Amino acid sequence: MEKKFIIAGNWKMFGTQDSAKSYLETMVSSNIANELSDYTQIILFPPYTLLPLFQEKLTSQTNLYYGAQDCDTELEFGAQTGQISAKMLEDLNCRYVILGHSERRQRGETSEQVKDKSSAASQAGLTPIICIGENEEQRKSGQTFDILKDQLDRSLDLSLDKFIIAYEPVWAIGTGLTPTLEQIQETHAWIRSYLPQEKANTALLYGGSVKKDNISEIASLQDVGGVLVGGASLDVDHFKEIIVRSKQSVEKKIKVC
Ligand code: PGA
Repeated sequence: MEKKFIIAGNWKMFGTQDSAKSYLETMVSSNIANELSDYTQIILFPPYTLLPLFQEKLTSQTNLYYGAQDCDTELEFGAQTGQISAKMLEDLNCRYVILGHSERRQRGETSEQVKDKSSAASQAGLTPIICIGENEEQRKSGQTFDILKDQLDRSLDLSLDKFIIAYEPVWAIGTGLTPTLEQIQETHAWIRSYLPQEKANTALLYGGSVKKDNISEIASLQDVGGVLVGGASLDVDHFKEIIVRSKQSVEKKIKVC
């Protein structure tokens, strides 16, 4: 695994200026990100409307990173009503962007678009987090690795310096269901083995119903380099608890490496 365990919070389409302000105040005053910064990298993904607030409230001293939930395929500017470019995100000091989340793929986003977006993101200096995952029917009919292979083949631009992959089984997102620990480890190990040698250190995140009750076990899995947390990241106390509970597993894993 990469040295730091990534704990990413995807707020989806939730949050107001007021709620975000108090969330960030709680995170910053708890100093949790600084205390665990040797092991953990925390990244929040609010909706676009809240990014200027993040830029204002978070400094390099807070050790809290942030990014957006999508960007356009176009790098800079253009006649693209309603779209946001990677350059605009970089202008707000974003360091990361989630791409190809299943909630976007369900609305028609293709792997080819994800790949183009990741190139734009990378050119703007952002690290893309590329999401992949099978749905319930595909899992049940034994097609998981075929689906992941197809998504990886078509979504990844292997010429990029850096990207992160998030494995998020669609049936585990927002449902309270999770794969077994064996299935998570097996799938992550498979993804790692499928990547070319020079990308073998890519951080692999698990996402789908991660919460305080299952984080310790998930974080202890050898090939899991972080988590992408949706619903449970909206409650600041729950999210802090996830961070705290991941600590022991991550420390142990780092010592073993
Ligand atoms: P969840 O969402 O944690 O609410 O299941 C994860 C995600 O959508 O990234």
